[in-house]
Amino acid sequence: MFQSNKEYLEFLKQSGVHSFLQETPNNLLDDKQKQTLDNTNKEVKSIDEITEIKDLIPLISNHNSPLSKTAKNIALFDGNLQSKLMIIGEAPEKEDDEQGIPFVGSAGQLLNKMLSAIQLERKNIYITNTIPWILPQNRAPTDQEILEYLPFLQRQIEILKPKIIYLLGTAAVKAILSTPLNLSDLREKWHNYKSINMNTSIKVLVSHHPSTLLKSPKLKKEAWGDLQMLQKKLNEN
Ligand code: URA
Repeated sequence: MFQSNKEYLEFLKQSGVHSFLQETPNNLLDDKQKQTLDNTNKEVKSIDEITEIKDLIPLISNHNSPLSKTAKNIALFDGNLQSKLMIIGEAPEKEDDEQGIPFVGSAGQLLNKMLSAIQLERKNIYITNTIPWILPQNRAPTDQEILEYLPFLQRQIEILKPKIIYLLGTAAVKAILSTPLNLSDLREKWHNYKSINMNTSIKVLVSHHPSTLLKSPKLKKEAWGDLQMLQKKLNEN
């Protein structure tokens, strides 16, 4: 039908075909994923290659975001890397940003008290944030920011493999349960979380953020109910 390869190629081009399937796929993403640190050309692993949570820190530092310009430190995680419980908050406050540790400021002190009310010590729990950088004026993260940092959060879950995730506040709920429902519709029920890289799902419980409890102490009764649900499930697992 076609007199020459050239004629055939011309036909493909006219039909809108601009690339070919090959035996091995074009590696269009790989170069972008392998990021480099400063000018030393030292390679940082891509997110899927990371098997230790601490190795996410250079990747997050390298991730181009305006939040990193206004923050002092990444407050990625604190606590126990073998914990069966993972607590996810929103974003660091001033003291957390200064120390590079989540939940050490006023919200963190209340969180410690809440945990000890159900006989938990924070050194035995893995604590992290939806956004690891402080947000300007402590504003809530946008949906875009939550999505942007979700891969870092998902990778922490895949590495830690907790049995239970406790979500504090709406930012963590949006990230993990990706639902438009609000906290009051989601509390008091167990949910499931699973990413494509995981074989089994993780039990998820939702509660009020400690900063909300500091502003609205009347919600502490509800938070106490959530903590008791959490304690019961922990005892079963
Ligand atoms: N500190 C954190 O690290 N996260 C929060 O969500 C609140 C305070």
